[in-house]
Amino acid sequence: MALDLNQQARDILNRNDRGGYTVPTARLYPYQWNWDSAFVALGFATFNRDRAWQELELLLQGQWDNGMIPHIIFRRDDPDYFPGPSVWQTSGGAFPSGGISQPPVFASVMLELIESGGAEDLGQAQAMFDQVLKWHRWFHHDRTPNGCPVVCTVHPWETGRDNCPDWELGLDRMDVDEGIEPYTRMDTVHADVSERPSKLQYDKYVTIIKFGRDVGWDQKRLTNEGPFLMADPGIHFILMRADRDLLAIAKMLGRSDAFDELQGFISKSETGTDYLWNPDMNAFCARDVRSGTFSQGFSSASALPFYADAGTPAQRQGTLDNIKRIAAKVDYLIPSWDPDAADFEPQRYWCGPVWPQMNNIISKGLAEQGETDFAEQVRQDLARLIEKSGFFECFNTMTGDGCIGTDFSWTAALWLAWASPNQEN
Ligand code: GLC
Repeated sequence: MALDLNQQARDILNRNDRGGYTVPTARLYPYQWNWDSAFVALGFATFNRDRAWQELELLLQGQWDNGMIPHIIFRRDDPDYFPGPSVWQTSGGAFPSGGISQPPVFASVMLELIESGGAEDLGQAQAMFDQVLKWHRWFHHDRTPNGCPVVCTVHPWETGRDNCPDWELGLDRMDVDEGIEPYTRMDTVHADVSERPSKLQYDKYVTIIKFGRDVGWDQKRLTNEGPFLMADPGIHFILMRADRDLLAIAKMLGRSDAFDELQGFISKSETGTDYLWNPDMNAFCARDVRSGTFSQGFSSASALPFYADAGTPAQRQGTLDNIKRIAAKVDYLIPSWDPDAADFEPQRYWCGPVWPQMNNIISKGLAEQGETDFAEQVRQDLARLIEKSGFFECFNTMTGDGCIGTDFSWTAALWLAWASPNQEN
């Protein structure tokens, strides 16, 4: 069975390959997505290391002159997706692209490939090092609002957790811009409406894009003056981890010129971590920067301090207590949203379902910090979901049914690289 799934997973990656980069799934997401590609590289690395590095290389080709690596690269226009290049209207890099970024797991994936590989892998990482450092610098400079201790986000899509109830705080504060052009959503053509975000949410997502366009995608203005500004434990902990991993790579490469800068980023994040601590939830939670208000629920990103080697012993204990509370309520860990919150929906996108890539990084962190039982449960729950339902985009946390996209690239990749009980492939 596992062997059969391994073959299916390789076939999915090969089928979703568009010539050096991989789409997350045909039709629904017909372009190259940022953090999807990083996870996909881990999957390719189990049977074709050159192809793994190529995936990363093509992602870097979309980097903007200011250092940002966008969340989507539009190599060719595709009518199956909204909002496409004609809506974003960006010109920051070599290709049309989204005007926001996504969680920077790239450096951590590079380190994983180096650790599982050899001198050639280190050589590949060497060639990419400066571009990745420039991207991290962009996060620390252009996405850290004036006077705020942590890196933030200007659009829910930048967090990769698109319609998580975490973002309602920021969305509630903003109005829909009357000037947005009428549009036709394509996601609800390809997926069940009950599993996708609402119309009002979409109008606000498009309103933020319009603001970005109106300021010519000046990223500092988008951060400081844009309609939406929240701090995300996901981006915070993922970037902190990525800075540590990039520093480890810098040491392997003897890039002493980068040590101080990276150490400075890490220290900034260490100091800023408390900003995300919500004493009411006894957890790290998303926070609206302008009002200072916390989101009142434990999301899958709240489970990431271990991955970043962050937080005090009491904060880590609070995080574990929340995971324990949630484990007693759901059949599969880790739900994307808190099952005790009113807006929990186990089948709706980021309002409840289990997401493969979140399980991967959460489990990795727990294992590294000695929480091996939970780490293993989180891995095995994903394996059970894939064995039960196949390679879906995400899964109903109560029933285990697959949700939204089928034959999904990161699900296939993480099965091969991590969740499959048969790692021989
Ligand atoms: C959705 C997810 C995002 C992912 C993208 C492509 O927008 O929320 O995290 O990168 O799909 O798979």
